[in-house]
Amino acid sequence: MTSQTILVLDFGGQYKELIARRVREEKVFSYILNGDTPIDKIKGYNPIGIILTGGPSSVYADDAPGTTRELFEMGIPVLGICYGMQLMCHILGGDVRRGEISEYGQTSCEFVSDNKLFRGINKEQIVLMSHTDRICGLPEGFSVLAKTSGCPFAAIGNEKAGLYGVQFHPEVIHTKCGEEVIHNFLYNICGATGDYNVSDYIDRQIQEIREKVGEKRVLLALSGGVDSSVCAALLSKAIPNRTTCIFVDHGFMRKDEADSIEAIFSKRDLRFIRVDASERFLAKLKGVSDPEKKRKIIGAEFIEVFDEQARQLGDVEFLAQGTIYADIIESGNDKTATIKSHHNVGGLPDRINFEGIVEPLRGLFKDEVREVGRELGLPSYLVERQPFPGPGLAIRIIGEVTREKCDLLREADAIVREEIGRKRNKPDQYFAILTNTRSVGVMGDGRTYDYTVAVRAVKTDDFMTASFMKIPYKTLENISRRITNEVKGINRVVYDITDKPPATVEWE
Ligand code: XMP
Repeated sequence: MTSQTILVLDFGGQYKELIARRVREEKVFSYILNGDTPIDKIKGYNPIGIILTGGPSSVYADDAPGTTRELFEMGIPVLGICYGMQLMCHILGGDVRRGEISEYGQTSCEFVSDNKLFRGINKEQIVLMSHTDRICGLPEGFSVLAKTSGCPFAAIGNEKAGLYGVQFHPEVIHTKCGEEVIHNFLYNICGATGDYNVSDYIDRQIQEIREKVGEKRVLLALSGGVDSSVCAALLSKAIPNRTTCIFVDHGFMRKDEADSIEAIFSKRDLRFIRVDASERFLAKLKGVSDPEKKRKIIGAEFIEVFDEQARQLGDVEFLAQGTIYADIIESGNDKTATIKSHHNVGGLPDRINFEGIVEPLRGLFKDEVREVGRELGLPSYLVERQPFPGPGLAIRIIGEVTREKCDLLREADAIVREEIGRKRNKPDQYFAILTNTRSVGVMGDGRTYDYTVAVRAVKTDDFMTASFMKIPYKTLENISRRITNEVKGINRVVYDITDKPPATVEWE
């Protein structure tokens, strides 16, 4: 619990989590607080430095988020980014003015003086600008550290006081020297020693969970996905025996998946309840082929089952969720308690009266969540799991979902994952789909009239766009042979050669 801390004060900027992550990448612990956090509370964190985020406001707006002069007089180094720099300048007596036009995009920046923030960085750099207001006069003790053609105060600093500001965004990859700027602030200015690692994060979260929950009890909807699994592992360490995980097995998991989730979590210090609800889900989906309807039915039934189980348990004060940073961005709102919707737990807090929500992974990026999971001893096949839709195989079965179709797809999918999973150069996501097409085939001397399986394998950075993977024919051949030989009921295999867009990753 001794690692050095950088505080990130948030003024409504869209990049605050990214800034916090960049600091963690430099092996320094970072913590995000609201921009208007009282100074005493800030001091309580004993930070080695403070970063002020950007934000959409103008420092002159009536409701502009702010801080006090004292923040800059504590002797703690401060780096203001964009709005953060303008705010610092405004509070310390500089001149900030409304710009006539906005400056947005990558631009060339010239570093004009020798200083600790830009030490070792080439004098000309491409940086990302995104602002309308601009600085027109500096506070006392400050000098210009960088300029662009449209912005004479692209970076400013008062080296003696340890106060720096950059109009550009060092946290985004579009600013080529951004990593070095953040590194320099941390190591040249704040005196960071790089003492943060993932076990430190875990220790801090354990302490926070204990402080929040006290002697009370926590309920977690465990889907078996990476996020809820890591959340469960963390809770079992923080408050052993006061966490109950309800794993609603809707019957649409992949081969052996539900059993392995049970095997892993029933060994941990928590109460693990597996509810086999496959009959119920299948009954609700009878005759339904529309994918959106399937999703809605599965979501509603999930809540129904979870709710029943929670009521049987009696009073549980906290609901835990494996919300991560991506979920917060997707929801577009980080001020309220975000309820993760994709795994069908959205709506639960309205039905069950929880005292609070515990979200220990909030703010972490997916790769960081995986690192936490590995550190907590979760097996790599679980931690490295591919993305998997909450409604599971039900949306990878085109048309009506039946138990027989689920079984067919489970077997075919296991073969696809086994064959492609052996390759060194793996796609980011690969799986099988059971199409609704049946066609004539011939097996031995007999005629068949069986289903067609489609194989999907994509490369992607963010799943918003994706390219189909150029899988070697030999691998496709093995997959096709094995599926048609080993899975009775499938006589044809096709490979999806469509990118996203125009297609999506899932077929649905
Ligand atoms: P699409 O089909 O929209 O999928 O291109 C993009 C990515 O999202 C995954 N996906 C989901 N993930 N819950 C999830 O956690 C869901 O309901 C869900 N639906 C789609 C999909 O597998 C792909 O990786």
